[in-house]
Amino acid sequence: MFQIKFKDGMGRVGKLETKHGTITTPALMPVIHPRKQTIDVKELGAEIVITNAYLIYKDEDIKKKAIEEGVHNLINFPGPVMTDSGSFQLSVYGDVEIGNKEVIEFQELIKSDIGTSLDIPTAPYVSKEKAEEDLKITLERAKEAKKFRDDNGFELLLNSVVQGSTFPDLRSYCASELAYLGSDLYPIGAVVPLMEMYHYDQIVDIVMSSVSHLPDSKPRHLMGAGHPMLFALAVAMGCDLFDSAAYVLYAEDDRFLSPRGTYKLENLLEMPCSCEICSNYTIDDLKSMEKSERSQLIAKHNLYVSLAEIKLIRQAIYEGSFLELVEERCRVHPNLLNAYRRFSHYNDEIELYDPRSKKSAFFYTGSESINRPEIKRHLNKLRTFKKKKNLVLLPSFKKPYSKNVPNNLGDFYIYGEENKINLKNTDFMVVDIPFCLIPLDLDEIYPLSQNEYPKTKDLAAVNEIEKILSEFIPQYKQILIHNKLAKEYNLNLYRIYPDSNLIKYEKNDVNKIIAIADYQFGFGAGEALFNGKIKIEKSKKTGKIRHIYCDGELIANMRASDSFFILSKEGAKRLHTSFKSPCLRVIVNSDSEPFAREGKSVFSKFIVDCDENIRSNDEVLIVNENDQLLAYGKALLCYSEMMDFKVGQAIKTRKGFKEEI
Ligand code: GUN
Ligand code: ZN
Repeated sequence: MFQIKFKDGMGRVGKLETKHGTITTPALMPVIHPRKQTIDVKELGAEIVITNAYLIYKDEDIKKKAIEEGVHNLINFPGPVMTDSGSFQLSVYGDVEIGNKEVIEFQELIKSDIGTSLDIPTAPYVSKEKAEEDLKITLERAKEAKKFRDDNGFELLLNSVVQGSTFPDLRSYCASELAYLGSDLYPIGAVVPLMEMYHYDQIVDIVMSSVSHLPDSKPRHLMGAGHPMLFALAVAMGCDLFDSAAYVLYAEDDRFLSPRGTYKLENLLEMPCSCEICSNYTIDDLKSMEKSERSQLIAKHNLYVSLAEIKLIRQAIYEGSFLELVEERCRVHPNLLNAYRRFSHYNDEIELYDPRSKKSAFFYTGSESINRPEIKRHLNKLRTFKKKKNLVLLPSFKKPYSKNVPNNLGDFYIYGEENKINLKNTDFMVVDIPFCLIPLDLDEIYPLSQNEYPKTKDLAAVNEIEKILSEFIPQYKQILIHNKLAKEYNLNLYRIYPDSNLIKYEKNDVNKIIAIADYQFGFGAGEALFNGKIKIEKSKKTGKIRHIYCDGELIANMRASDSFFILSKEGAKRLHTSFKSPCLRVIVNSDSEPFAREGKSVFSKFIVDCDENIRSNDEVLIVNENDQLLAYGKALLCYSEMMDFKVGQAIKTRKGFKEEI
């Protein structure tokens, strides 16, 4: 029903299948008023819409038509239709004239694709007792609705709304209970008042504490989030669906939506974009129109820019530049920037979902970028590396650093007791923003070379580098620090090193392939893979390593774009022998075994277990439950996604082992 196609950070591009067609997510569902709708949202590109079943139920004329002809005919939309239940009316007017089972039955009756139970949207900042009391009812109704739907064999897909007011623990509890229930989609409710108050940081806490307890295999919908300036951040938190009544409501108030914020017609000197409306009408045209005609045109603009923003987000996820887009969008309002800063508190969680390699370079777009998950991941990896005795720290130069190390390095300071340094037992690292410490053997792998930052340094990055240096320096016996670094960073310098002219970085391809293998697969992988008489073949054109053979047998190819290894059959066998289960493995059941051995892709539903360290785009070993190596390939999902999804591909198999080995 739902599958992930592309990922970046926690953002995902997916496919959601319904009775009335399959749509691409993230998606924006324009809110359709069942009686007052005047705009054809399909014409503007909406793939899915949402309308209110309760409003239809209450209105005898349209109710009759909806029952006889279905909701799709009623609102004249042939694609997927989601219906809300009247909960929002309940929160505003205090009461609704419909029961929970009744509203589910009605949504099935009018052939809605996705229906909603009668949750209670608890306002923000209420007492915990109140939030708990409401939540109890919301959960009971979600359970009742699910049972009622299943017992009656309804086709309706079911929304179960996460509530819990502004209490992250209640949101997490609610999400866990609903996840256990196995609903089809998970809206996150009652955030509209927080949006109206610009309390976006609270929304981050609410969404993150909900999403972290929801299944990865189901779409999440941030209810009532219709302003395009919020979409990127919400998708970055793992939201897949949005609904917008804003396109109409703002238009009725002569306000233009944009990812940069809202513009009031009276303050406009220029039309704000180049959509059909903004291209064909002037500000004076709009001002001189009847209000209803004007609202209609502004609503079209509003929907146009909202849908365009969704497309831009999908494109950015596809190309791996999505986190840069989020950083850009969060700069349009200080409260959004505050929310983005809050979001970085959840970096450990985000890192679990973030692919290790992307099509786009990492762009440092401002001081917040120093907290990005890619940097955390790199530094955590370095922490696990076996350190040599000594360390030489170099300033940055042209990338890739290892290909551009100057012959004469310049002058150094030394920390440590002795005046001699054994270069054979020395790690060489470049100190640079944003990845802080880049070992010269590893500098070509993604994103250590594939990144850009502004040459004028900011305080956050300088502070981070100083912090990381003070952590790593004490782990070495002798440390040489280049004098250029001494000028850039506040380092407790010791004394001038007398023999700076003897310091040389000796490039060594074998050291490099071992370091990259250890970084990519885990410590020990380099020794395990490249054991025997090593032959390294390089590209004649670029000079980059391409193929590595041991005793005449191909072990691995190095991918030019990110310098990660792609295994050969022998390489996969060697890693399988030297790493114990479940390291590097995806374990599949016996149904899948013949397909994997044939080299066919592995589907999630056959996966029994998998290494928690797997991220999408990793090279993985495919084994059976007896740990026999069946195949190897590229992961399309991360650990928790592989474990959760029951449909779709999980691994693009490179090669299978037809025979037992
Ligand atoms: N629309 C906006 N917020 C909510 C909510 O919390 N629940 C429901 N059912 N609909 C909403
Ligand atoms: Zn426009």
